[in-house]
Amino acid sequence: MTFRARHLLGIEPLAPPEITTLLDLAEDYVELNRRTVKHSDALAGMTQINMFFENSTRTQASFELAGKRLGADVMNMAVAHSSVKKGETLIDTALTLNAMHPDLLVVRHPQSGAVNLLAEKVNCAVLNAGDGRHEHPTQALLDALTIRRAKGRLHRLTVAICGDIAHSRVARSNLLLLGKMESRLRLIGPATLMPPGAADLGVEVFEDMNEGLEGADVVMMLRLQRERMDGGFIPSEREYYHRWGLDAEKLARAKPDAIVMHPGPMNRGVEIDGTIADDINRSVIQDQVEMGVAVRMAAMDLLARNLRAERGRAAAEQMA
Ligand code: CP
Repeated sequence: MTFRARHLLGIEPLAPPEITTLLDLAEDYVELNRRTVKHSDALAGMTQINMFFENSTRTQASFELAGKRLGADVMNMAVAHSSVKKGETLIDTALTLNAMHPDLLVVRHPQSGAVNLLAEKVNCAVLNAGDGRHEHPTQALLDALTIRRAKGRLHRLTVAICGDIAHSRVARSNLLLLGKMESRLRLIGPATLMPPGAADLGVEVFEDMNEGLEGADVVMMLRLQRERMDGGFIPSEREYYHRWGLDAEKLARAKPDAIVMHPGPMNRGVEIDGTIADDINRSVIQDQVEMGVAVRMAAMDLLARNLRAERGRAAAEQMA
């Protein structure tokens, strides 16, 4: 098996064969999830704790479903009702839960790097469900699976990532993953929402949507991350939609069979026209949601295999 990671904290440390291994396994889980009976025992006897310090619909629900379909005991920590509200730190919270012997910890946190820090303090496998503007690895993996299923490959595709790049962990993880898999990448958005040094990332950078979308195979729209903005980055939502919102006229610049993606949640009429988002001939947004469950099942399955192997080696060493 080509997947050696102890945790899934980001795309950065993953080698291309590890990404392919995970996507290939996720294909099996897509098939399982379409059956009437969706159960496997890949995580039987294991305990999964989900800790979401930021709001989530897709990621939280799909990690919970993924764990349950794989037979794990799944506990969702209710952060709003926890001792975090009395001032307990992230690390103390993690150490407390670690003492209950979880096997998998799924964490979303508003601070970049918080999940990596937590992973150093616990004995179980940690999965990053999104940390600040740093990484959202399972989102990039589910996006990759969606693209691979729609286009048959990940290499030699022109992928345009559009909108609020600067505040987006989704953009960062996708840039890393698609770059490793040899896609051609373009970033499109206002200069105020472009990360410093974007032009040095080996990608093409455009301010004009019509130019940037020319001949694209994949159009990936991003949400305006208002919760991470500390000032005015756009003149107005109306002006933003006019220049950077995806409508039929702008989409016509991409290839006729280009797919439209959005990680959600969407602001219809701000970054994307609702008709395009709902067009089943162009939009793969609901496929992304479906792939999210399968990718999270594959990620937890692979980490659990590595965890069992590690524990097996440790037990053998103790006996020797
Ligand atoms: N794409 C994504 O992370 O959505 P949620 O915030 O709803 O989990």
